Amino acid sequence: MAFHSRFPLLSGLVLLLFCGCLLAQEHFIVGGQNAVEGDAPYQVSLQTPVGSHLCGGAIIADRWILTAGHCVRGYPASRLQVATGSLRYAEPGAVYYPDAIYLHCNYDTPKYQNDIGLLHLNETIVFDALTQAVRLPSSPLPQGTANLVFTGWGAQSASGSLPSQLQRVQQQHLGSQVCASLLSPYEDLELAPGHLCAYRQANIGACHGDSGGPLVYDGTLVGVLNFFVPCAQGVPDLFMDVMYYRDWMRQTMSGNGKCAQVNQQIIIG
Ligand SMILES: *[C@@H]1O[C@H](CO)[C@@H](O)[C@H](O)[C@H]1NC(C)=O
Repeated sequence: MAFHSRFPLLSGLVLLLFCGCLLAQEHFIVGGQNAVEGDAPYQVSLQTPVGSHLCGGAIIADRWILTAGHCVRGYPASRLQVATGSLRYAEPGAVYYPDAIYLHCNYDTPKYQNDIGLLHLNETIVFDALTQAVRLPSSPLPQGTANLVFTGWGAQSASGSLPSQLQRVQQQHLGSQVCASLLSPYEDLELAPGHLCAYRQANIGACHGDSGGPLVYDGTLVGVLNFFVPCAQGVPDLFMDVMYYRDWMRQTMSGNGKCAQVNQQIIIG
């Protein structure tokens, strides 16, 4: 979710300070580079039925997509589609359809927490060089890990349009104390054990349309984009920690989940 500042003057000033750089360079994600074929074969675009990009997500198994809760909240399964196997969301390798959506039962409770959702597809994803499931973590990410890769089709600036080609950016894990202090101006945001912070520098980071997208370390999915301050204004990007939600995912995927909002679950056939 995008935070809208309570201090429009301040953020206006911040924007002014940065807009010289924004105009001077090509900024997608913000400040990303074009991904190349095979860079992120797990990346998907969550879309409306007419193919408008809504959010990112990751293939975690041949019938399962992991994304942020706020990306799927309120959508019946029949109103979403999943584009796979392409650097261009408008020219997907294949399109799949969810038959069930599972939202964490404590989604956004407290605010910005448990922002995680799973989509079950009605057909098996055909894997190929450009379409693969990402590995899931089996241990927590060490503090300060560098070379985290985030990918998305998010906007190039707070008021910008979406790039047609997938963008990638490298970020670094940020310890929760430093992260909390950088996020302290955002009063209703409280860091929880399920959060993971990543940061690079001002002018490089997530923007609208990146939500739900995958943060990967060494081929393993470590985060799902939860929260950003639009966009890349020198504040860390906040992810849901995939390791922290492994049990929830396992239970939900095995059909034994007791903590998934059932009103989101619409099974067709
Ligand atoms: C999956 O859903 C789509 C869209 O509703 C439908 O066109 C397709 O036939 C379904 N596939 C199966 C195997 O049910």
